[in-house]
Amino acid sequence: MRLGFLRRRDSNESSFFMKICCIGAGYVGGPTMAMIAFKAPDISVTVVDLNEKRIAAWNSETLPIYEPGLDEVVKTARGRNLFFSTDVKGAIAAADIIFVSVNTPTKTYGVGAGRAADLRYIESVARTIAEVATSPKIIVEKSTIPVRTATTIQEILAAHPRAAKCQVLSNPEFLAEGTAVADLTNPDRVLIGGERTPEGEAAIEALVAVYARWVPRERIITTNLWSSELSKLVANAFLAQRISSINAISALCEATEADVDEVANAIGKDSRIGPKFLKASVGFGGSCFQKDVLNLTYLCEHFGLPEVAAYWESVIKINDWQKRRFAANIVKALYNTVADKRIAVLGFAFKKDTNDTRETAAISVCRDLLTEQANVVVYDPKVPAHEIVADVLGKGAPANPRLTVAASALEACAGAHAIAIVTEWDEFKTLDYAAIFAGMPKPAFIFDGRNILNLAQLRAIGFRASGIGK
Ligand code: UDX
Ligand code: ADP
Repeated sequence: MRLGFLRRRDSNESSFFMKICCIGAGYVGGPTMAMIAFKAPDISVTVVDLNEKRIAAWNSETLPIYEPGLDEVVKTARGRNLFFSTDVKGAIAAADIIFVSVNTPTKTYGVGAGRAADLRYIESVARTIAEVATSPKIIVEKSTIPVRTATTIQEILAAHPRAAKCQVLSNPEFLAEGTAVADLTNPDRVLIGGERTPEGEAAIEALVAVYARWVPRERIITTNLWSSELSKLVANAFLAQRISSINAISALCEATEADVDEVANAIGKDSRIGPKFLKASVGFGGSCFQKDVLNLTYLCEHFGLPEVAAYWESVIKINDWQKRRFAANIVKALYNTVADKRIAVLGFAFKKDTNDTRETAAISVCRDLLTEQANVVVYDPKVPAHEIVADVLGKGAPANPRLTVAASALEACAGAHAIAIVTEWDEFKTLDYAAIFAGMPKPAFIFDGRNILNLAQLRAIGFRASGIGK
């Protein structure tokens, strides 16, 4: 088989060594492709999306996602060898390697609703590639997908009379939002799965060569397709499980006067456990953990493993419980009623240094407080007000006068009966809490859902201060 990606291009054809196209200009596709373009000036990288607004933003001064350090990377490569376009078919036709980085949300309808991944976007992309790809290409699954999705893509390609023979690889992305640039610059590992055939091995090597421009070769792991697809789900499930484990223990700490940070520090010193991802919190959020664990449980059930499914499902159950427990503790501490009380919610993004709100614990906390008739005032440094309102109340829902968005933390806290820290933004660590306390009705409460504040100092000011697992 003659693969276009293995041949160096003629100078009259293109000055680039290789052409990459990425379908999907989201939180994964955008930063990942920007990094490849940044590190490999001789590779042309075109990121395409059906969403015209998103592409326009990638081509503007204000990128559609907030990610520290990303502006510099994009500005260096954009127009040189990094392009953003809505011409999906044109970019596919021209590419040697096609990354598929579209969304794979949890299904909301039909069989597997609430658990299985919705593969409609993956299938639609596969059909477009089958229609347009008349020369051999490497197709790379970048989106997180259920194990064996590559078969679907292969079958759709094989069924198309004109489609060229393409190789499908799995190359899951492990970057975390908020630290995407650092994660992409210096990844713990790059995982590439492919068919163990000569053509598959050649495709794997072509992709290895792209990452090897800046990632040490020993950190680039190659596996068979299914191990790679499954490893992404399992990595996220293990990470989510660690947070649910420490969050479960946080409740026990509160009941026993142990301190969850001290416990985490003590167990984390064991090199077999390790210190990372042991931060108790109001609950994990983000587009990956819940979706991927649910997807894993669905797969386990599908393959006749209900016990395994139940085990992983408990990770989600504890997380839901932790979010609700945080709101319930606020109500309980405020004498079992927050009706008509002003509650300042500081932070709305699912973690600091991102404007992403998907599955953020803040949605659950705000909803529970609104159900209790509180007046909720949210402040987040990066999430726009209209998005906060739409996330809490639902898109297009009528406004609720009890939910407002403040332009600063100080504005949110002024006159509040209680403050709830929901996202660990650095600016919340250095607020003038003495001045804030002076402007609050007494007793003044503060609930630190991220354990970022010094509770002893807050108590010295006069706050009734509590953290998670404290
Ligand atoms: C995660 C994985 O880390 C990443 O490898 C994968 O590619 C995508 O999913 P992300 O969701 O972007 O990344 O962020 P992450 O840093 O993992 O945080 C997820 C959630 O867990 C956040 O809400 C965070 O606040 C919470 N968290 C994380 C904790 O509550 N405690 C911790 O110790 C760590
Ligand atoms: P992630 O966090 O995984 O990057 P996002 O939802 O941020 O997910 O981004 C996925 C992107 O994929 C969206 O911008 C969406 O418009 C785009 N997309 C979905 N289907 C297609 C398609 N068939 N062709 C092009 N782009 C698509």
